Amino acid sequence: MGFDDSSLNYFSSSDHAKGIDLEILKKYFNRKFDCMLDVATAAGHLTKAFTVKTKVACDISFNMLKTARKHNKLKNVAQCDSECLPFRDRAFDLVGCRIALHHFKNPKLFFEEATRVLKPNGYLVVIDSIVDVDDAYLNGIEFIRDHTHIRSYSMEEVNGFSGKDLRLMKYNCLFKEHDFDEWAKRLSKDEETYKRITQEFANLPDHIQKELSVNMLGRKIISYTDKKGLFVFQRI
Ligand SMILES: C[S@@+](CC[C@H](N)C(=O)[O-])C[C@H]1O[C@@H](n2cnc3c(N)ncnc32)[C@H](O)[C@@H]1O
Repeated sequence: MGFDDSSLNYFSSSDHAKGIDLEILKKYFNRKFDCMLDVATAAGHLTKAFTVKTKVACDISFNMLKTARKHNKLKNVAQCDSECLPFRDRAFDLVGCRIALHHFKNPKLFFEEATRVLKPNGYLVVIDSIVDVDDAYLNGIEFIRDHTHIRSYSMEEVNGFSGKDLRLMKYNCLFKEHDFDEWAKRLSKDEETYKRITQEFANLPDHIQKELSVNMLGRKIISYTDKKGLFVFQRI
């Protein structure tokens, strides 16, 4: 089961539909934008954080775009790769990308494309998991759960993808608690995969269990908490 088969899970997922990140953005950008692009939109939840005249959403998955159109009423959608955006230079005053950078083969290319389609003084908002303590553990488990996971980065690495035309205006480190079963089964209902993920969590060294606040009831994993980085860049 991949993104095309799990598009409805992303619409209903509590990890995606709500979040303190969306609330922070609403308060921070207390203004109206002309035209925004949401890259790797899935069900389109990020677009709800902004007041915008024209919202455009894109994703590599056709079914995600169908879900975004149907459930979040997004009319302007395009199926494309984040590393090759089919839009003209300087078309948007806001570009967003939430919980998707870890899927991109070449994150630097995504940043270049996002910068290209931004108007001068426009904003690029990027939100994704931050893994900065012994990153192989969580990145390894994420890959078992989702083979399209490439890598979650540290704050410095994400910042390093931005080129000379972007200036970092705001950074928040947020802590996100995940309901373990919902998270582990979002992309696959396969029992073997679920067992492997559970085992990997149970076998984590103490310092990583502590880092991820793994919450267990007996042998059952109830939740864990990871870090999300919220970055706001401005195009110079
Ligand atoms: C976790 S979901 C994104 C959640 C969404 N942005 C939100 O705020 O609810 C990841 C999305 O990235 C998309 N995706 C993965 N690789 C991509 C790529 N190279 N280009 C564009 N979209 C991609 C997937 O199809 C999926 O819809």
